[in-house]
Amino acid sequence: MNDVPFTPVARVGEIPVGAGRTYEVAGRLVAVFFDGENYSAIDDLCPHMGASLGSGPLCDGVVTCPWHAWRFRLSDGAWCDNPKLRVDVFEVRLVGDVIEVRVTPAAPVELPTSPAPQS
Ligand code: FES
Repeated sequence: MNDVPFTPVARVGEIPVGAGRTYEVAGRLVAVFFDGENYSAIDDLCPHMGASLGSGPLCDGVVTCPWHAWRFRLSDGAWCDNPKLRVDVFEVRLVGDVIEVRVTPAAPVELPTSPAPQS
């Protein structure tokens, strides 16, 4: 997805150490975190019940959802209790003191098909 442009979201210093902030980029909500050295970005929407992961605390590369404490790794978006479930992870870069993210479009939702009615 290299054709997706980076979008500026904040300046260095606007995201406190050990915390995140949520930004709307390309129609998606993106949580950007700062661990004191690096910035990381994941889909803001918790897949459990939709809380904002950007408002959850960050510790050792893991953000904890503020509603029911599901934990997600920032490195790959995996839910710590079952890594088969993941949230999207986005590229982050610094251009001077501007934090930019490359936000890919959301994958289409595949709804289960219902069995054909029996006659
Ligand atoms: S909404 Fe995130 S754990 Fe429930």
